[in-house]
Amino acid sequence: MSKRSNKKNWFAKHVQDPYVKKAQQHGYRSRAVFKLEEIDRRHQLLKNGMTIIELGAAPGGWCQYVSQKIGSDGRLLAIDLLPIDPVKNVDVLQGDVTEMAVFEQMTGWAAGQKVDAVLSDMAPDITGVRSTDQARSAYLIDIAIDTALNLLKPEGFLLYKGFNGQEFQNIVKQTRRNFKTTSIEKPKASRSNSNEVYLLARQLITS
Ligand SMILES: C[S@@+](CC[C@H](N)C(=O)[O-])C[C@H]1O[C@@H](n2cnc3c(N)ncnc32)[C@H](O)[C@@H]1O
Repeated sequence: MSKRSNKKNWFAKHVQDPYVKKAQQHGYRSRAVFKLEEIDRRHQLLKNGMTIIELGAAPGGWCQYVSQKIGSDGRLLAIDLLPIDPVKNVDVLQGDVTEMAVFEQMTGWAAGQKVDAVLSDMAPDITGVRSTDQARSAYLIDIAIDTALNLLKPEGFLLYKGFNGQEFQNIVKQTRRNFKTTSIEKPKASRSNSNEVYLLARQLITS
């Protein structure tokens, strides 16, 4: 099949996708919001007044949802390589989370305080070469874990996206060494033919 008809098939599936329609109806910028909503509903994670850092946040669907949940007493720093249109109660930072300068801006934003949650829906540009994609995704997860180890409150939580495979399993083992409880989440809005999964890790082991 040519690349062009692949693209046409993807587009046809995308416009028929119930989560795409639902996102449009509710004014959300992405269908990804329903993945976070389901995980949040199951575990009662997001609460009024929380302070949160979100890595890989464009176009801002999760930001919209988190902003509603944390309210005007909460704070959210949303970071992405790409620009993010303004969202109420959200501070936006455009940059690459793998760069030290961006990490320093995050710590500056936190102003010496620890945060309630680190969220990462980050995904690398997919090359189609499985081992490369797995390694790139694992690197981004490593950055999310490192951010949590530096900036998360002991009772806080980390939620990150990964792609099931050997690299992912290794990084889950690493996460389990740092958190008291972990669970693998596969929300309904995450396509069943994708190996995308989320890892929810709660309660940092500090000693
Ligand atoms: C699936 S999208 C996030 C969608 C978002 N959760 C939403 O609901 O709108 C993944 C994002 O990760 C970002 N990303 C990938 N690598 C990154 C990096 N090194 N630094 C910052 N953002 C990155 C991409 O630019 C992309 O916008």
